[in-house]
Amino acid sequence: MPKLIVVTREGEEREIMGETGLSVMEVIRDAGIDELLALCGGCCSCATCHVHVDPAFTDKLPAMGPDEDDLLDSSDERDATSRLSCQIQMTPALDGLKVTIAAED
Ligand code: FES
Repeated sequence: MPKLIVVTREGEEREIMGETGLSVMEVIRDAGIDELLALCGGCCSCATCHVHVDPAFTDKLPAMGPDEDDLLDSSDERDATSRLSCQIQMTPALDGLKVTIAAED
């Protein structure tokens, strides 16, 4: 099972094992980290699952779709490392992936 490292808004680092095929959002939510609201449940329509991804993993991430891009544009916290965590599936290639939960808009 690939490992996911999550940095919370308070700066606490947590290591979670993420089942392959689940989204990063689902893995974070299932670990009980409730500051990631994920209000739409993962259907790419809320942007409350916004995370910043360690740049070391940028090349391993799935390409960003236009809906994700548009939603991220609505966030003042967007930067070059921004992704919606519901749009990233855990895969063995993402073992050790580190994400930081974005500040609340
Ligand atoms: S959970 Fe709503 S966009 Fe990701």
